Amino acid sequence: MKSQITLTVNGERHTLEIDSRRTLLDLLRNDLEFAGTHRGCDSGECGACTVHMNGIPVPSCMLLAADCDNTEILTVEGLQPEGDLHPVQRELIEKGGIQCGFCTPGVVMSAVALLDENPNPSEAEVREALAGNLCRCTGYAKIIEAVMSAVEDSG
Ligand code: FES
Ligand code: FES
Repeated sequence: MKSQITLTVNGERHTLEIDSRRTLLDLLRNDLEFAGTHRGCDSGECGACTVHMNGIPVPSCMLLAADCDNTEILTVEGLQPEGDLHPVQRELIEKGGIQCGFCTPGVVMSAVALLDENPNPSEAEVREALAGNLCRCTGYAKIIEAVMSAVEDSG
């Protein structure tokens, strides 16, 4: 079955006819070519596919695109004007919070959602916000350090 949806992705409005079983992740990566949103587990476990829907971080692999009609989606590509880095991205690079980078877009989107809601979180709040983002490389300490530095940068 097909559905027609209209949604805004990174500030641009799209009207698309989609298979009703298609996920938001498929739509973003395959139809709209926002490949910065990564497919890890495809089952809601790893956080690699995290995007913002109406300002809330969500796992895009777990959402049907048909249920995203009239929503505002933000992916990592839409965070900053092209060529600029968000303070969280800058600190992840500086503090060594990126190794293979596979988890990074999801980590960034979860961290930015937290900072948008709470610009001065405690380390415990950062850890809680990132609890759904799995990283196989860094051991998390450098990721947490980077987000705390981004908090200090903006303070
Ligand atoms: S790919 Fe969506 S949570 Fe892992
Ligand atoms: S940097 Fe490799 S999974 Fe996180």
